[in-house]
Amino acid sequence: MAHHLNGKAKLVGLLGYPISHSLSPQMHNTAFSHLGLGYAYLTFDTKEDNLDDVVKAMRVLNVKGFNVTMPNKANIIPLLDEVAPEAQWIGAVNTVLNDNGKLIGYNTDGRGYVQSLREAGIAFEGKRIVMAGAGGAGKAVAVQLAVDGAKEIVILDMVADMAAALSNTINEKIPSCKTQGLAFSDENLKEALQTADILVNCTPLGMTPHEDKSIIADPSVLRRELIVSDVVYKPAKTKLLKMAEAAGCRTINGFGMMIWQGAMAFKIWTGEDMPVDLVKQKFMETLGAAGK
Ligand SMILES: NC(=O)c1ccc[n+]([C@@H]2O[C@H](COP(=O)([O-])OP(=O)(O)OC[C@H]3O[C@@H](n4cnc5c(N)ncnc54)[C@H](O)[C@@H]3O)[C@@H](O)[C@H]2O)c1
Repeated sequence: MAHHLNGKAKLVGLLGYPISHSLSPQMHNTAFSHLGLGYAYLTFDTKEDNLDDVVKAMRVLNVKGFNVTMPNKANIIPLLDEVAPEAQWIGAVNTVLNDNGKLIGYNTDGRGYVQSLREAGIAFEGKRIVMAGAGGAGKAVAVQLAVDGAKEIVILDMVADMAAALSNTINEKIPSCKTQGLAFSDENLKEALQTADILVNCTPLGMTPHEDKSIIADPSVLRRELIVSDVVYKPAKTKLLKMAEAAGCRTINGFGMMIWQGAMAFKIWTGEDMPVDLVKQKFMETLGAAGK
């Protein structure tokens, strides 16, 4: 047992299923240990039908907070006392703080993505973005880009209604950002990319074990000025990012988003900055994941 876990230690954790593969315990426990903070991060198998009971247990045990993942990110919302506006617009919570008995929900996925761009020195404010995939990750990324100053987002999803619903939410809640929601097709993607500054893939295409897949069929749509970003981080270089590199584009993968969404949850619970470089180094040792 780590030396900082005494009788005053606080519990945080992850509710979801399946979660035994999660990198979050390693991330947070490495950081708690390094900073000598009296916290422990554990995983709690939680399926949809026992979420209610598990949340009651979290209250009874007076945990400091918890992360929430599949299949509970949307279902948790009615069980909380308060939900931050971005998380309401996204329709999903991934981080909960127990603030003296009041459970407050946040979504740090989109903030993590935006921070990964900032860390890489990529400006998105006032820019035109094209995004493929309007599921859990896509909603968080699009809402946060809009909140933080993107000028325009074209959202493409193979389920056109998903793209339209996300576009409508952003147009209504964050009118400073203009959005369009369209069915994903090679033609719509090609047209949207003609004036885009940043392309972001929020579909699972390219993720292990589907490394041979990419949202781009014809690499000639990739202009060298375009920044190409993928929320997938396993493999570190997806087919999309390889195509983009070959076209001379700057690329960034989802590793930074994964780290920074955790760092923001860490800050919400502890008030401290996560030692991000140390956590990245530990992950690279275990995952072999490349940074940017
Ligand atoms: N880096 C991170 O921290 C991070 C965080 C969350 C998710 N992710 C990754 O993001 C990816 C998406 O996860 P999610 O939770 O949003 O999944 P999801 O299933 O909620 O959403 C995926 C969306 O992509 C759309 N889609 C799928 N195939 C498509 C295609 N060929 N063309 C157009 N649209 C298509 C689906 O209709 C769906 O709306 C996964 O690979 C996941 O690992 C990364």
